Amino acid sequence: MELIYFDHSATTPMHPEAIREYAETAALGPGNPSSLHAHGRAARSRLTAARDKLAAILGCSPSELVFTGGGTESDNAALYGAAWAQRKRDPKRSVIVTTAIEHHAVLNACRKLEAEGFELVLLPVDETGRVSAADADKAIGETTAVVSVMAANNEVGTLQPIGEIGRIARERGAVMHVDAVQAFGYEPIDLRELPVDLLSLSAHKIGGPQGVGLLYIRQGTPYEPTLRGGSQERNRRAGTENVAGIAAFARAAEIAAGSREERRAHAAAVRSALLEGLAEELGPDGFRVNGHPDESARLPHILNVSFPGLSNETMLMNLDLSGVAASGGSACTSGSLQPSHVLTAMGLPAHFCQSAIRFSFGLGNNTEEAQKTAKIIATIATRLRRR
Ligand SMILES: Cc1ncc(COP(=O)(O)O)c(C=O)c1O
Repeated sequence: MELIYFDHSATTPMHPEAIREYAETAALGPGNPSSLHAHGRAARSRLTAARDKLAAILGCSPSELVFTGGGTESDNAALYGAAWAQRKRDPKRSVIVTTAIEHHAVLNACRKLEAEGFELVLLPVDETGRVSAADADKAIGETTAVVSVMAANNEVGTLQPIGEIGRIARERGAVMHVDAVQAFGYEPIDLRELPVDLLSLSAHKIGGPQGVGLLYIRQGTPYEPTLRGGSQERNRRAGTENVAGIAAFARAAEIAAGSREERRAHAAAVRSALLEGLAEELGPDGFRVNGHPDESARLPHILNVSFPGLSNETMLMNLDLSGVAASGGSACTSGSLQPSHVLTAMGLPAHFCQSAIRFSFGLGNNTEEAQKTAKIIATIATRLRRR
């Protein structure tokens, strides 16, 4: 059976160049970048090269980058780090403003801060999954410690007005954090232009290895480290760096940034082929697209579709049996029966939430796979509806 992988937002296959970089770095032998001897210096030089590459891609200084153990760690570190430091500087700054559609890596860190006494404000979204800058303007004030808004949502792909909200946060003395885990590699990110103080990235969403992430901390941003130990990463994240993983991440990022337009066009073509196939096989009433209708307001590689009357768990199981890998929302909620908090926040009726599937595309896919998937979905739908 031919296997079709339409779950790139959960994780991507590692790019062959990134695998090569990983293997080459790991094969250098032992080398702790904090050691002063030749082995340590070799590891440090790989680490420095990777940091320099990523800083050039993002438009920041290498010293503003902290390597972490993934997107979740970057989000947690950003929120705790800025919230604690802000409150220490000024006890009045005790409000966290974020959105109802953040990844759980942000939402659950915010809940923990709420339990520590911070007040949590969740901005709503409209039916396309977009936060309004006007709502942010009303919510952000002189007591706001941190504002956290994702660059693009991981379930429906809707882009968020991070530039506008970042400017408001900056005006009011709040620290602005952006989770750019899904947007990186598809949307341009230039930290010279963006009014953002903290930004989270993850390697495995762009062809790098799992368990490697990055936190950008703009120079001068109030920040307190979460992990304590050695003085790695300029005292901002203790622990021996994952040198091979970081080298592979930088290589994957270089490839992703250098081929952004081709990758966007390729993903958009596969997405359109699946949509056209679904329209042909199921008719316009057989499915509903969730997210922003405008191409310029969404990521090109995510397609979230509801199949009314068909539970997403059953559909996903049947798709898997037919060799198609997709997801019911974010990877962390798949496998649980809870309806997506993102679709719920968008005001989708329960039957659309319970039947929503996320397809997400990447380098290995083609339009034939999309056409084949549409046919498979139609067969499954007919079979399930007959029951
Ligand atoms: C928007 C967003 N933030 C954070 C994460 C967590 O990243 P990681 O899997 O590297 O911990 C994900 C992963 O799905 C994500 O989509």
